[in-house]
Amino acid sequence: MSERVDEDLQSLDRVLSIEIARVTERAAVAAATLRGRGDERAADRAAVDAMKRELAALAIQGTIVVGEGEKDQVPSLYIGEQIGAGGFSADVALDPLEGTTLCAKSLPGALTILAIARQGSLMHAPDVYMEKIAVGPGFPDGIVSLDRSPADNLNALAAAKGVSVGQITACILDRPRHAKLIESIRETGAAIRLIGDGDIAGVIQTTSPAETGIDIYMGIGGAPEGVLAAAALACMGGQMEGRLQLNTGEKRTRAEKLGLGDPDRIYRLADMVRGDVVFAATGVTDGNLLDGVRFHQGRIETHTLVMRMQTRTIRDIRARHYEFEKFGL
Ligand code: FBP
Repeated sequence: MSERVDEDLQSLDRVLSIEIARVTERAAVAAATLRGRGDERAADRAAVDAMKRELAALAIQGTIVVGEGEKDQVPSLYIGEQIGAGGFSADVALDPLEGTTLCAKSLPGALTILAIARQGSLMHAPDVYMEKIAVGPGFPDGIVSLDRSPADNLNALAAAKGVSVGQITACILDRPRHAKLIESIRETGAAIRLIGDGDIAGVIQTTSPAETGIDIYMGIGGAPEGVLAAAALACMGGQMEGRLQLNTGEKRTRAEKLGLGDPDRIYRLADMVRGDVVFAATGVTDGNLLDGVRFHQGRIETHTLVMRMQTRTIRDIRARHYEFEKFGL
């Protein structure tokens, strides 16, 4: 390993374990001040502004590869934007507020998310949909695949777990586009956990089925969320595949610009995350994965998950913050 790469790896560990948590914590607190106000845009903007401010201080020379949208659509944290105070060259994938509706309605499961990897390691996701399938760790490679029918995947998973398919639960976003998928899953006898929003958490929850009750994630959600979910699974173990939904010429053109124009290509986890990655998520509202931000007299509490792929470290950080000014409060 060259000295340069070695240094980069050390920076990744040192800088990113705590610093990355600071970024998602600040974004979560900003969004949490707008929980339950029915204003998705305001909550998202608050999280974006806070995340952008904190990213500017990170010791990286980062390029956003998964962001709020494309340059011509959003003013801030767009794909291709350069961020950081300088340092090793990094790919940055972010979702300042995953579950804007959940936050606006004060429902469980809103998160702020950030992943950082060495430049060239993360898939540059266009802002389109992605069909996804994911399971947690401990199964033979290729146990499920987008190439196979839902019934084949569920039966294979049940056999590998040594249970009947009726004991398997699939997590799916509650959307009309999933009517056929839901029907085919029901025909197998498997159960379905329908979620209103937040498929990154849906994928992450497949890593601990005994606690979450979710064995497999299936269905179509955002491609940016797909890459972030893949980054989390890369740290926690598990398998995932994604296929971009390029059903219009315009979407294909946008994907082609990123070198991803093949609508049939199935991206495996290792295609979406090609090297070490650090991932952080902070709860905005309470959820199965993380507690939401708590505002107390004189202090704010946050709950953050920070993980690194290479060292297989998963840190569960519960922070108490006493300096409200840091949060602009
Ligand atoms: P937002 O925070 O951008 O609203 O995303 C929430 C989410 O549920 C994602 O988790 C998911 O990938 C995507 O929306 C699905 O998109 P849609 O709501 O258009 O079905």
